[in-house]
Amino acid sequence: MARLEGKTALITGAASGIGAGAARRFVEEGANVVLADIQEDPGRALAAELGGATRYARCDVTAESDIAAAVDLAVAQFGKLDVMVNNAGVLGAVGSIVDTTAEAFDRTMAILARGVFLGIKHAGRVMVPRKSGSIVSLASSSGMIGGDGPHVYTMAKHGVVGITKSAASEFSAQGVRVNAVAPSGTVSALTSMVVTGTPDSFEATENALAASSSLGFAPLPADIANAILFLACDESRYVTGHTLVVDAGLTTGKAPSYFHTIEAGLVFEAGRRE
Ligand SMILES: NC(=O)c1ccc[n+]([C@@H]2O[C@H](COP(=O)([O-])OP(=O)(O)OC[C@H]3O[C@@H](n4cnc5c(N)ncnc54)[C@H](O)[C@@H]3O)[C@@H](O)[C@H]2O)c1
Repeated sequence: MARLEGKTALITGAASGIGAGAARRFVEEGANVVLADIQEDPGRALAAELGGATRYARCDVTAESDIAAAVDLAVAQFGKLDVMVNNAGVLGAVGSIVDTTAEAFDRTMAILARGVFLGIKHAGRVMVPRKSGSIVSLASSSGMIGGDGPHVYTMAKHGVVGITKSAASEFSAQGVRVNAVAPSGTVSALTSMVVTGTPDSFEATENALAASSSLGFAPLPADIANAILFLACDESRYVTGHTLVVDAGLTTGKAPSYFHTIEAGLVFEAGRRE
């Protein structure tokens, strides 16, 4: 049986990149999917391509009423909401902390942190009464370490890891799981802007990301979609409050290490080797 057969999912930021990859994967696995995004044309085009099991909802995650309406649309169209993916995102404020305005901070946090909080809130509103559901939010390797992204982005993504644990601690007694996925640089419009300054130079982006990856290749949206799928479906039924890192070991430290090539032995005291 398909892994999301009979399930309904709502994915924010589904018109592009990782969200679109998750939408494709979810439909392959039998789900009904509401594609929620501010980008109407690509959102509608993807819904048309994926067929009858999908709906497009215009949804700006900075507006609570839009998120509430997208959740209600999923329930009205498909009878329930089983999976919520809080994926919508931007890079937001860039540059030195010293030069970052409070307005740029607020606009970035409104999407990356408050948008995720509101997504969890409104998914919980319809999942908790049914005592069933899985919520997956997009954190980032920038949510695990410093120096991997812009300051406000890094703060927001650490916040996603935090609210994932906090919401899981409330919802687990009600049968709703809450998890996150933390990718490192993945080929998408967002990274293309960072790497090349244009949103659609995917080949150049992939080459640049591959060159800095310890595994020697760059992750595609489909790679992240597979991690989201695992947390969304019942294969992860005992997993909650977890952030699944998908980063080729980036956040484990610098590899390769000197300690991998040193001659094997035992060192117990300074200067004495057995
Ligand atoms: N690509 C990466 O390297 C990477 C790494 C770690 C985490 N992420 C996270 O993954 C998520 C998806 O990013 P992506 O790389 O696919 O980027 P992307 O730019 O391809 O897609 C982001 C989508 O979010 C939508 N969006 C932006 N603001 C919105 C809003 N206010 N309301 C609703 N939709 C909005 C955009 O229209 C777009 O369709 C983001 O949360 C991002 O921070 C990406």
